[in-house]
Amino acid sequence: MKIFAMKKIAITGAAGQVAYSLLPRLASGAVLKEPLTLSLLEKKGVALQGVVEELSDGMFPLLQKVLATEDPKEAFKDADYILMLGASPRKKGQKREDVAKINASIFWEQGRILNEHGKKSASILVVGNPCNDMAWILTQSAPRFKTRIHALTLLDQNRATYQLAKRANVSVSKVSQVTIWGDHSMPIPDWSYATIDGKPVQEVIEDKKWLEQDFHRIVQKRGDEILSLRSFSSALSAAEAILHWLHCMEYPSTFSSAFHSFGNPYGIDEDLIFSFPCISKGKGDVMIAPNLQWPHHLEKAIFQAEEKLKKRLLILSHLR
Ligand code: LMR
Repeated sequence: MKIFAMKKIAITGAAGQVAYSLLPRLASGAVLKEPLTLSLLEKKGVALQGVVEELSDGMFPLLQKVLATEDPKEAFKDADYILMLGASPRKKGQKREDVAKINASIFWEQGRILNEHGKKSASILVVGNPCNDMAWILTQSAPRFKTRIHALTLLDQNRATYQLAKRANVSVSKVSQVTIWGDHSMPIPDWSYATIDGKPVQEVIEDKKWLEQDFHRIVQKRGDEILSLRSFSSALSAAEAILHWLHCMEYPSTFSSAFHSFGNPYGIDEDLIFSFPCISKGKGDVMIAPNLQWPHHLEKAIFQAEEKLKKRLLILSHLR
């Protein structure tokens, strides 16, 4: 008989919109096809119980236990993955930077608790916006986990992949190896290593202006576009990107993730959370891909993104 160690996944902001799309997919084993405990954290006064009851009614065979709590210590204890969705979402007309000051205190506080009570081998994904900034706060307040903290740029990678597929008029499954550099607030999509139906992108999409300018703008503005269409920021696609991240963490893969920049070979400041192409060996063991180069036309934008991020972090470092 095969005995599985039960995984525990903690989710903050568990009664929010992204969680509502994510939880049934997690519980049904979309990525981790093994018995699972879900540990749901919500702030006081937010109706989490309805979600808990719906998870029961969902009759998910792999879901062994659901813990609902207001206490981060309890939520994070023994968790293998901590998915940090809990933050004030962006509203129409706001920039992601605008919500940074509102959300910073959550991450300073939860980081301290994580540092003290988190399981050593836990992997942490920050989704709450602006996610690079909030993940950086965690690296400062939970230094024990510095190299295990990610911010979600797979959403940008998926958006970029879709845009290439749409332009080439092929299914998304034909597009691979799109990379995101930098910051989710200003993601820099890179198609230079990507292929469409096995061919280099430039062979399939010949419009240079679209590839070098329009494509970037479309990907960078996609969050705004969804926000304006829905009047709420993206949830379903964010949830899918989180599942994609979990899959990449668990199984050998290459993917984009905003990760601690220590020792990066690309000349980016060494104390940032910055999106790089990453290599996963599986089971949470991830490194920044060492042997790539960004194309010349992206260089200026990447260093501008780094400078803007550093300026924002300087402000946040005073808000502890
Ligand atoms: C997104 O890109 O859709 C999310 O970061 C939500 C937002 O504020 O745009």
